[in-house]
Amino acid sequence: MSAPNKNFDPVMPAALDPANLQANVDAALAAIAGAEDLATLKQVRLDHTSDRSPLALANREIGALPPSAKADAGKAVGAARGRVNQALKAREAELKEAERERILTAERVDVTMVNDREPVGARHPIHSISEHIADAFVSIGYGVVEGPELESEWFNFDALNINRDHPARTMQDTFFVGSADSGAVLRTHTSPLQIRTLLDQAPPVYVVCPGRVYRTDELDATHTPVFHQVEGLAVDKGLSMVDLKSTLDWFAATMFGEGIVTRLRPSYFPFTEPSAEVDLECFACRGESVGNPDRPCRTCSSEGWIEWGGCGMVNPRVLQSCGIDPDEYTGFAFGMGIERTLMFRHGITDMRDLVEGDVRFTTAFGMDS
Ligand code: PHE
Repeated sequence: MSAPNKNFDPVMPAALDPANLQANVDAALAAIAGAEDLATLKQVRLDHTSDRSPLALANREIGALPPSAKADAGKAVGAARGRVNQALKAREAELKEAERERILTAERVDVTMVNDREPVGARHPIHSISEHIADAFVSIGYGVVEGPELESEWFNFDALNINRDHPARTMQDTFFVGSADSGAVLRTHTSPLQIRTLLDQAPPVYVVCPGRVYRTDELDATHTPVFHQVEGLAVDKGLSMVDLKSTLDWFAATMFGEGIVTRLRPSYFPFTEPSAEVDLECFACRGESVGNPDRPCRTCSSEGWIEWGGCGMVNPRVLQSCGIDPDEYTGFAFGMGIERTLMFRHGITDMRDLVEGDVRFTTAFGMDS
């Protein structure tokens, strides 16, 4: 700042020279107009309005003027700074708006855009229901056991008391792997898991074994050469048919609805004694179609019951061959077709829908059982 100018000094300080003021304003306005973004504008603001800018300097020079000249000079500097500040403000608003436009365009989401991503698949309902069954048994304390699909004849037949001349052991039912005397078969049921489990675990044993099994059937609406079973096995002290029947009733109610029970029909399996076929009370008509032509039921053909699987008390010979004393322990076992269970549960009438792998069928079941 110049020294106080007590006597009138006609020489205007350079900073207050109107031409100079105008030049500084012009320079500031040009810089403001030329600022293409907010960061540049910030720098322009510093250069042209901060304490060390030419206009601020001019403002300070006013103090050095004689009182009579201060008012005019103050007006001139004030107007100059006002123009610059106004231009800054306007440019800032413009740049902010442009930035907003840019973000809106760059981050635009077109909610009407066609989604060309690959469709999400779904689990096969056989897998979902197998897990559902296993989970249900786990909830009452059972373990889950799995075993090989390529099985030895010994586990699949001999250890289960199915002797050499049993009809199930012919090429008509069983896929032999390699030559017929290789001793290797694709397991025809999940019952070999009974043997594998009893050789592996000491009683008390409570397990379920879901898995894939193979038989030489042609694929049609009710048969498939590859299907699934779930085996159940319990070996403990004092188990009786009552335990078997109540477990099956619980299983039926869990899968098909409160109050649905099972019925046992005498049958024969070499590895259980006594043995029975398990029928399921028809969950569609609950028996009301029987002898009632006015209310026919397609699910059970008005029989009131549907075949579900096989069961029985574990044959003492099986326990013995696994090193378990049949005088101390008894057991029960059951085996259900998982395809049948799924078909009943969801009203699927053609087995082929389950094996053809059409995603439209699978996705209808979603991710759940
Ligand atoms: N394994 C028998 C079958 O496939 C079913 C079954 C399992 C029967 C357990 C009795 C006990 O037909």
